[in-house]
Amino acid sequence: MVDDFSALIDDDDDTNQPPVRKIPPTQAGTPPARTGGIIQQAEPGEAEWEPPQDEKKEIQEPPKPESVAEVRTPGKRDEPRIKLGIEGLDEMLGGGLVKNSVTGIIGTYGTGKTTFAINFIFEGLKQGETCILISLDERAEMLKESIRRRGYDLDAYLDKTFFLIKLDPTDFTLAVNSIKNEIPDLIRETKASRVVIDPISLFEGLLPDEASRRLEMFRFVERMRDEECTFVMTSETDTQIPYASKYGLVEYLVDCVVLLRYVRTSDLSGTHLAVEVVKMRRSQHSREIKPYEIQPDDVVVYSEASVF
Ligand SMILES: Nc1ncnc2c1ncn2[C@@H]1O[C@H](COP(=O)(O)OP(=O)(O)OP(=O)(O)O)[C@@H](O)[C@H]1O
Ligand SMILES: [Mg+2]
Repeated sequence: MVDDFSALIDDDDDTNQPPVRKIPPTQAGTPPARTGGIIQQAEPGEAEWEPPQDEKKEIQEPPKPESVAEVRTPGKRDEPRIKLGIEGLDEMLGGGLVKNSVTGIIGTYGTGKTTFAINFIFEGLKQGETCILISLDERAEMLKESIRRRGYDLDAYLDKTFFLIKLDPTDFTLAVNSIKNEIPDLIRETKASRVVIDPISLFEGLLPDEASRRLEMFRFVERMRDEECTFVMTSETDTQIPYASKYGLVEYLVDCVVLLRYVRTSDLSGTHLAVEVVKMRRSQHSREIKPYEIQPDDVVVYSEASVF
């Protein structure tokens, strides 16, 4: 079945705040302290955090649950997480995307939807996962070039654990059939654990009317939910409403919505990019709006800064 695709493949508990833990002063390779968080670096000579005696005892003799599954109740914060690969955003998401969930990255033109999607894919590849990127809008060669320019070793993964599928949105039958039927088969056969469609709005636009868009999108997202993969779809925004997806469906169907947008400075002298986690089913997440920058080889979310 994979061969069938050869033509497509172009080339913490919030109620009990824990004590502040002091880790040793900065050394080479030690990440900087996250001020305002739970962990802070000790000043040179300052004592490191030590659990009180009774806490130590508790650690030595934990209560024994009958099974791990009982402890990891769905809906709790300890659901397995998949890192998006953008540090500040993973923090805003409470550690990353929930494993095997469906996420929509919504943003207007040039806000970085494709860049965020590429980061998500390469984070997986670095972890040894198999990943699929289905692109509907960028020419495959341009996309490959853009991936290489961001410093990723594309050739080490391409057609091995990374499958780049370029669909031509003007070929309605091929594109719609591929997305509806063949992509789920490919996911199963390659055992891909991360899948991206960039952007899903072009697929939605192929469908003739609102009723069929609603039905097909619902069916497609439900089908993706059945797969053992974490799925990200990007979407353009509505032309009038910069915080809504183009057809107003994605945000209702997916488990998690990440919104990318431009924010003008109050003196109108410039524009900043800002990211927000609008929704995350069964999970706690940040509701703050944080500035980010797309740099030549990285995306940096300034989780300590504020856009207003
Ligand atoms: N290598 C790079 N160096 C610096 N900035 C970059 C680089 N690549 C992309 N950008 C910035 O990211 C922006 C576009 O990123 P991207 O293509 O990911 O956005 P997008 O939301 O997918 O856009 P579109 O809606 O057109 O598909 C560019 O306008 C540019 O500002
Ligand atoms: Mg794009």
